[in-house]
Amino acid sequence: MARTLDSQSSNRSSTLLGATTNKLIKYMEDKIEKIKEIVKEELSQCSAHGFDHVERVYNLAMKIAETEDIDLEVVKIAALLHDVGGKRETDDNTGKTDHASESAKMARPILESLNYPEDKIQHIQDCILSHRYRNEHKPKTKEAQLIFDADKIDALGAIGLARTFAWIGRNNAFIYKKVNTEEYINENLGGKIDGRIKDKTKHSAQINYETKVKHIVNLLHTKKGKEIGTERTKFFKDFLNRMEKEIRGEL
Ligand SMILES: [Fe+2]
Ligand SMILES: [Fe+2]
Repeated sequence: MARTLDSQSSNRSSTLLGATTNKLIKYMEDKIEKIKEIVKEELSQCSAHGFDHVERVYNLAMKIAETEDIDLEVVKIAALLHDVGGKRETDDNTGKTDHASESAKMARPILESLNYPEDKIQHIQDCILSHRYRNEHKPKTKEAQLIFDADKIDALGAIGLARTFAWIGRNNAFIYKKVNTEEYINENLGGKIDGRIKDKTKHSAQINYETKVKHIVNLLHTKKGKEIGTERTKFFKDFLNRMEKEIRGEL
């Protein structure tokens, strides 16, 4: 009899626990949904960082997260917010505004309004701040490294090529132009391979490959990220090789 009562009460408490967990998950997902809406609205005004990129980074982050032991909530939120300040950079013609810093700043009031605890806010801000290739903040936590990987991989493969040529179109740069990489770095990247581009009209798809794309895979942190990155880098290079042959009339 005692055993029956025990098992009844244990069933009741596990049902209660299940209901509480479900409520908690729903509460977390609702908040993430709200963040998604805020980012969508914010980026609808931004020409350089569309919500489509954010969605791809989010999806890729989820794919890599399957193979990593990480704080999934931090990764989801950081993936959504990592470029939220993109418009502030594109609106600033001086080239001094860094969208990673702006996005980290903008994330705070959004997360505070949704009652996230301070330690989580700081962790998310750190992930956002360190996602960029061309700035001095390097990703330290596993979550920041995962966000960095997902964001960088979106510059590779077929989607990386599509984004490169869209950027070339927007900035009146070159579809095809090969240069001496060392000289170019000194003249247009301030002497650093990952420096900010001074004159975007001098850039090209081939320069993008030599100064950025081919190095990305070496910067990736996660095993899955490196695997996807290697395959996509090869695709990118194969496309440029093929294009060069067509330009020379060889194909
Ligand atoms: Fe970014
Ligand atoms: Fe991004």
